[in-house]
Amino acid sequence: MDRMQVKPDDGSLMAQPDRQVVVTGVAGFIGSHLARELLNLGYRVLGIDYLAGHPQVVIERNLAPNKIDKSFTLVRGDLTEVSLIPWFQGVDTIFHLAACPGVRGSWGKDFARYVSSNILATHLLMDAAIRSGVRRVVVSSSSSIYGGASCGPVTETNLPAPLSPYGVTKLAAEQLALAHARRAGSQMTVVALRYFTVYGPRQREDMLISRLITSALTKKPITILGDGRQRRDFTFVEDAVRANLMAMHADVEAEVINIGTGVTTPVLEVAEIVGDIAGMAVPLKFGQRQAGDVRDTHADVSLARAKIGYLPTVDLRSGLKVQFEWARANKLADRPT
Ligand code: NAD
Ligand code: UGA
Repeated sequence: MDRMQVKPDDGSLMAQPDRQVVVTGVAGFIGSHLARELLNLGYRVLGIDYLAGHPQVVIERNLAPNKIDKSFTLVRGDLTEVSLIPWFQGVDTIFHLAACPGVRGSWGKDFARYVSSNILATHLLMDAAIRSGVRRVVVSSSSSIYGGASCGPVTETNLPAPLSPYGVTKLAAEQLALAHARRAGSQMTVVALRYFTVYGPRQREDMLISRLITSALTKKPITILGDGRQRRDFTFVEDAVRANLMAMHADVEAEVINIGTGVTTPVLEVAEIVGDIAGMAVPLKFGQRQAGDVRDTHADVSLARAKIGYLPTVDLRSGLKVQFEWARANKLADRPT
């Protein structure tokens, strides 16, 4: 294991067990925001990431706000290779976000990476968490386990029917986590959060809204995959982070919970709003609808409200403005792609 910025083993990890948490996938989009919020709240954060999910410049940018904090420790390593138990001693909660996240790239030979990072890594992490006496694991799951929302908003009791290999691995991961929590003798509890398309500053560069904003800034066309009438329930990253914090102490034992907004918007309408914000229409071209891409997503968030007190707080236009301003300030459009 390659350790970066690891603190001396002075026993401090054990000093206040309830204040020590782990964030896996900490160099990623959502994980980097969650770690920063936990640090703001006074937690000591051990971040684990193999630092291979993004180009180096993106990894450094994502880690920068956390690395400056003395309560942050980064462990560089693959979850399927790192010996996790020593790192989990005295840990109260693990937020497990590490995964291979793209829907459309999960076909073909890359599937082995998805199996490793999404399924095997989750199994090994849960096993180590139980053996280390971790109280709670909050797992990042995905709307992709549903396979679409053709008949209105989906609830957690809908039959999962993923359309992509990625969705299959996320379903396996959340169910593995729940199985570990239900294991005889387990004291560990699990909340699996099924996020619906998350956006905001630092959003992954393969995702729609990042690409729309880059197109608006560079004036180079984005390819809309399909007719653009497919809909997504777009969730602002602050809401996804808040859901994780609420899931930390909620009174549940083994639960899956939708984290979306309850509002679903066609891709072409998102392009129009980004155009309004940019002050010019986003240049579009059209390509093939992609294998594994669900037509529509739409979350019923009643259970989230009932179980963890979650309500979305950021509407799409407001969230898009924040992401647009962030992209402009960070000169993302100036970076070679
Ligand atoms: P991301 O790619 O930005 O972050 C994931 C991080 O995990 C990366 O930094 C990567 O290096 C790390 N990682 C992957 N495999 C690893 C391994 N084996 N060992 C150690 N580190 C590893 O992705 P994101 O968009 O921030 O997504 C975070 C989580 O949320 C993922 O579990 C994803 O499936 C889930 N999710 C995301 C969205 C979304 O819209 N972004 C929606 C639903 C679910
Ligand atoms: C997103 C995340 O990427 C997944 O990690 C996550 O699991 C999933 O949400 C989820 O909700 O569970 P996706 O909905 O495909 O997946 O998000 P985007 O990549 O932003 O795509 C949204 C829509 O825009 C899709 O229909 C896609 O085909 C389309 N799109 C995307 C384009 O038309 N052009 C692009 O360049 C990118």
